[in-house]
Amino acid sequence: MTQLQIFLEKLHHTYGITDAGQVADYIPELSKANPDWFGISVVTTDGQVFNIGDTAKNFTIQSISKVFAYGLALEDHGREVLFEKVGVEPTGDPFNSIIRLDEGSHRPYNPMINAGAIATTSLLKGDGPTDKLNRLLKMFEHYTGHEVFIDMPTFISERATGHRNRAMAHLMLNFGMIDKDIDAALDLYFQQCAVMVNCCDLATMAATLANHGTNPITQVRAVSEDYVRDLLSVMYTCGMYNRAGEWAYRVGIPAKSGVSGGILAVVPGKAGIATFSPPIDDNGNSVRGLRVFEALSKQYNLHMFDLSMGRCIFCI
Ligand code: DON
Repeated sequence: MTQLQIFLEKLHHTYGITDAGQVADYIPELSKANPDWFGISVVTTDGQVFNIGDTAKNFTIQSISKVFAYGLALEDHGREVLFEKVGVEPTGDPFNSIIRLDEGSHRPYNPMINAGAIATTSLLKGDGPTDKLNRLLKMFEHYTGHEVFIDMPTFISERATGHRNRAMAHLMLNFGMIDKDIDAALDLYFQQCAVMVNCCDLATMAATLANHGTNPITQVRAVSEDYVRDLLSVMYTCGMYNRAGEWAYRVGIPAKSGVSGGILAVVPGKAGIATFSPPIDDNGNSVRGLRVFEALSKQYNLHMFDLSMGRCIFCI
């Protein structure tokens, strides 16, 4: 067994016993998750896969989808057009914050908060709702390397209860920030959040970004290399919401979390890492995930500004 596998098993054992955090329940379907589910996956850019725990358990991707939808929107419209519609400034506010819309900028602060993600998804090209959804699913399939499906109960559950997101979409329409077909945009956003993945898929998706946009296992391109830099930048500054600064300080690699308990992070050129554990903290980030990433970053000098970075993640 490699040293990395031994270390992952140690982390899984150490952090598996904490009972901190709460399973998200504001989307009723998410409350059915088992708080004990816990997986850690690493996929390297040369195609090695390391798994420990519940890494094959399916769950809905939630906010982690925002990174990948942003990549598709960049491909559809280019950097400058998209930048006019959705900014790249961190808010330091909760992911579902509504206040920042009403401040005269006439665009959401960034594509990682809900408002920015809804605006981004509303821009995706396609010949009607089915075509747009199929383009999104195809894009996810290139990242994961297999067919992906939407969890209908979660989609329906969020569609029925996502009043805050609906309110944001209405406010954005009022300010002329998004097109008038907000119900279609919201449906597509809720569907994108309900795409099912497992922890190993998330690590593969992150490894694809680490590997210049090409899936390191299938060798299929998922996103143009030109835009990987854009995705990693917004992940680094905005991916962990009101924890983004502390994450950048303590862990120091681009990452994205979701309320269903996933976190993925990219070690550029080297690997994708993912954790899955449903109990989240007040910021919407998985509690076990935060601990695992802090420990991994420390052990392997993963921080972007650590001068010893460049050590091989899987051979130490
Ligand atoms: O829009 C929402 O509230 C959810 N579909 C996604 C939120 C989410 O994952 C935020 N992450 N921490």
